[in-house]
Amino acid sequence: MNRPVLIALAGFCLASCSEGGDGGDGAASAPRRPAPTAPEKAALLAALPAPYNQADLDNGRRVFARCRSCHTITEGGPNMTGPNLYGVFGRAAGGHPGYNYSTAVRQAGFTWDADRLDHWLENPRTFLKGTKMSFAGIPDATDRRDVIAFLKVETGYTPPARP
Ligand code: HEC
Repeated sequence: MNRPVLIALAGFCLASCSEGGDGGDGAASAPRRPAPTAPEKAALLAALPAPYNQADLDNGRRVFARCRSCHTITEGGPNMTGPNLYGVFGRAAGGHPGYNYSTAVRQAGFTWDADRLDHWLENPRTFLKGTKMSFAGIPDATDRRDVIAFLKVETGYTPPARP
């Protein structure tokens, strides 16, 4: 790809990524990635390991409605009661800059992956005792699968390259 095209794409992202959605903080200096298109989301979903590749993203979006009052998921989105979740997969627990975590999460000592998120979302308070995330949990395993896949697709996760 030649230079003018790259510059044009970067400009497109700056123009389009800062508007709409559930609110950015407007303070970002780095260019943001354009949100994936529907076919890109389908490809991301298909590339996830089982059982996440079987997930229902529409149901995942509905389940995420239970999180929205406390979390944004857009790149550069603000922290609310809970931290912004963009890039959460592969990030150290308690690792989002500028958010005041509980000691329990800050000292969890692991990196978020689907498995850890599954346990966390089933019951945050037993998974990390002392967390300040006051959320009862999602008892239904299918709902957890779907919301985890939804988050993978929406928060900038990229699957590791296959050999
Ligand atoms: C009532 C507000 C609230 C709701 C609802 C809520 N959370 Fe949270 N969440 C928090 C708070 C507060 C923290 C920080 C916890 C701490 O520091 O102990 C947190 C932390 C997290 C973290 C750890 C992030 C990190 O950077 O380590 C993840 C992942 C997360 N929440 C996902 C979810 C998902 C997914 C849902 C919906 C199924 C959800 N949360 C619902 C308030 C909430």
